[in-house]
Amino acid sequence: MLEDDVRSGFRAALAAAVGAAFGEADLGGVAVELAPTPDASVGDLGFGCFPLAKLLRRRPAEIAARLAEVIQLPSPFRKAEAVGPYLNVFLDRPVFLERVCREVLEAGEAYGDCDLGRGQKVALEFSSPNTNKPQHLGHVRNNVLGMALARILEAAGYRVIKVNLINDRGVHICQTMVAYRRWGGGATPQSAGRKGDHFVGDLYVRFSQEAAKDAALHREAQELLVRWERGEPDVLALWRTMNGWVLEGFEATYRRLGVEFDRVYRESETYQHGREIVLRALEAGQCYRLPDGAVEADLTPDGLEKKILLRRDGTSVYITQDLGTAVARQAELGFDRMYYVVASEQNYHFRVLFALLRRFGYAWAEHCRHVSYGMVYLPEGKMKSREGKVVDADDLMDEVEALSEAAIREKHADIAPDELARRRRQIALGAIKFYLLNVNLDKDITFDPAASVSFEGDTGPYVQYSHTRICGILRKARESSSLSSPSSGRADFSQLGNDAETALGLLLMKFPSAVRGAAESLNPARLAGHLLETARAFAQFYHDNPVLQAETPGLVAARLELCRATQRVLQRGLELLGIEAPEQM
Ligand code: ARG
Repeated sequence: MLEDDVRSGFRAALAAAVGAAFGEADLGGVAVELAPTPDASVGDLGFGCFPLAKLLRRRPAEIAARLAEVIQLPSPFRKAEAVGPYLNVFLDRPVFLERVCREVLEAGEAYGDCDLGRGQKVALEFSSPNTNKPQHLGHVRNNVLGMALARILEAAGYRVIKVNLINDRGVHICQTMVAYRRWGGGATPQSAGRKGDHFVGDLYVRFSQEAAKDAALHREAQELLVRWERGEPDVLALWRTMNGWVLEGFEATYRRLGVEFDRVYRESETYQHGREIVLRALEAGQCYRLPDGAVEADLTPDGLEKKILLRRDGTSVYITQDLGTAVARQAELGFDRMYYVVASEQNYHFRVLFALLRRFGYAWAEHCRHVSYGMVYLPEGKMKSREGKVVDADDLMDEVEALSEAAIREKHADIAPDELARRRRQIALGAIKFYLLNVNLDKDITFDPAASVSFEGDTGPYVQYSHTRICGILRKARESSSLSSPSSGRADFSQLGNDAETALGLLLMKFPSAVRGAAESLNPARLAGHLLETARAFAQFYHDNPVLQAETPGLVAARLELCRATQRVLQRGLELLGIEAPEQM
């Protein structure tokens, strides 16, 4: 690949030059990075000689000057010059740009793929909602991250199994059942005209409000849990019905967001397994029974606290099922790694989970990792489902779709209704997804719906719009070439190579390492940022340079190749983020 050739070609030439100039045969572990220069007039890329200073016991500026005299660079480099401590290199720009375009266009769909993860199976858990309420803004970040990570890891050669864990059991679920029995009045989502997950979510809110006045309700829910775990038929029947309502609602939300799974686990099916694991550990003396009957593990030797694994009434807690789920997954999937995409609120939970798995003898716990991410706020403040001030995923999508419709109508007053419906969806989802993905995982996000749909700024619609501009140019080119002679387009790259063209070409070259970097760091923001830079570089290129009106047919054709390559990169990059790349907006 060009990027590797550039990197390794430079490294080899540098090593030879260091030998010739300083008699030092080996660069050893010196990191050789070619970085962008502040200004193309001093070079296309630069190497800061700082890491060589120690090896050669000389000042970086002296090293750069000597190396510039002796270095022999291979194609696509043209020459090197020293600027202070930097050894800057100039590309043979026409050769370089021709190679970039050819490489992108020949690789097609596979441009940017690598084999970082070849032969490795990753179980990627994300979403994992509770069945007591609809999904909220935080779940949207989670779902979107999960889908993007799945695609990025696949592009990096991993075999990815997308798994969901439905937490469909436990005291919070029983709370919605108590509420339904007391205040549901026999209604159903259908009779109430409400989406199933929202219907149950309303009951959950009701429970919280009533329980604030009447603490006995909490006891009632806990008793219901005991009866549920005993398998009492009437309790199970209500539970099944209510879960069904919620799951149907989730299905609709997933479909709308474009979220899918390869395997869905349910807490109700794995918690028993978790219990057995705990009871076995109890026999093995890896945890102990408290006087009141509860089972606890002492994790203070691991730098953590003591942790209850089974309640004194025998019922399971959240971590019980996680033990069972993890072990069941390893048995079923035989993963090499398992990643849990779960909000940072649960950092401690996962430290405890992994410590317990290790203690109970599951060596693969070493290969489990919590992919933790920050909270999502709306400008008003934190989302809180218990108080009922939720920002539901569905409502959010509605709101952003309405904003995107307004933006589309501004441009196309008389757009056909079905085309409008399609585009408003594409743009709204692009807006939401990109906004959430273009932020490093550890950062909290304040989601600003209006900013997210803007066609300018660091947004998905901006990248999508850049893509449509290129599609428009390519469409025009096809139309005009079918009018004139078909042979009009032999690209003459020798005329290519101004600063804007070269800057764009460099970003196309670096796309594969952006994908790889995102996979290595499990951080789609690496890729999102690269797409923004590419879109901006395209805007600069197109602002500075006529494409279809360029001076010669050879130059028209060469610029069209650069446009085609950029279109491919933006499309593939958006696809890896789970975002559609429309041809028109
Ligand atoms: N259902 C949980 C919640 O909404 C998140 C589950 C995360 N995954 C897990 N394996 N514990 O808080």
